[in-house]
Amino acid sequence: MKHLLSVDQLSRGELEEILEVTDAMVEVSNRSIPKAPALRGRTVVSLFYEDSTRTRLSFDSAAKRLSADTMSFAVSSSSVNKGESIRDTVETIEAMGMDAIVVRHRSSGVPAQIARWTDASVVNAGDGWHQHPTQALLDAYTIRSRFGSLDGRVVAIVGDIRHSRVARSNIEAFTRLGARVVLVAPPTLLPSTLVPWDVEVTEDLDSVLGHVDVCYLLRMQRERMNEALIPSLREYTARFGLDAARADRLGDGALIMHPGPMNRGVEIAGDVAERPNAVVTEQVANGVAVRMAVLFLILGPGRHALPPTPAAAVSAGPPDRDASQSDTHESDTHESEVGA
Ligand code: NCD
Repeated sequence: MKHLLSVDQLSRGELEEILEVTDAMVEVSNRSIPKAPALRGRTVVSLFYEDSTRTRLSFDSAAKRLSADTMSFAVSSSSVNKGESIRDTVETIEAMGMDAIVVRHRSSGVPAQIARWTDASVVNAGDGWHQHPTQALLDAYTIRSRFGSLDGRVVAIVGDIRHSRVARSNIEAFTRLGARVVLVAPPTLLPSTLVPWDVEVTEDLDSVLGHVDVCYLLRMQRERMNEALIPSLREYTARFGLDAARADRLGDGALIMHPGPMNRGVEIAGDVAERPNAVVTEQVANGVAVRMAVLFLILGPGRHALPPTPAAAVSAGPPDRDASQSDTHESDTHESEVGA
């Protein structure tokens, strides 16, 4: 894999491979020193033209856990404010010798365009309404880690599907991995066409709650709405919000998911987000491991060089190691501190 631009570039086998590599990265992340040397000497730069908390921090910590050097490009304090074009910015970054560029942009297609301009690998961290492939991978991983697989599972995706790159990526990833997807939204918050998705659609959240394994709530993306698509937020919440009474009607073991940032009190009631079956923070934690897997598969030495298994990992702790290992790991830790 040279780039990760969209879920539809990934076959079911490739999706499963990324999830398997993520298992190894979860193991690395659970070590007392959560680091592996796989990407030493590689440089990952993040280029975020749009706001982000989770995605940006998790790519950064994913790169660091694999010992890559990281650079972060804060658009608000860069020459973009002086009118520099994306292409010139990318050429500047490339001249400094980057191996991968993680891009978020408010316009669809920008990551793919950058991939045509540079020899570096490009990872799409969200482009407009289009795609957010690592979000779909971390969500698929979270469902798989609770249920063993997505095969035959029923996932309701609720809310503002029209403006959601998360929904577009998740629909493709979940259905490709064998899940049944039900979209729950008012017609005004659906895209103009549902082709080519293999999904069911309903406006009646109450009718599906008892039948789903996952209730996936989307943020109301008001910054992307330039017309009145719903009568009022109160009415939206009354019909599509997951309040306590609705959450009670979910079946045993059904998960509540949200990509964040949550609008508590709009698409999800504040206390519902704290229930044990709400796995929002687990999604965030899995986001780091999934992004480690993606960076590893794009930049790493190949799957044969996956970080060692737990038994071998014990020797990665500070004492009782041989001299060569000790050098490697100590310098890794040091680099991370300096680079943080
Ligand atoms: C999403 C995004 O930015 O696409 N957030 C995220 O990456 N976790 C979803 C959103 O903004 O609603």
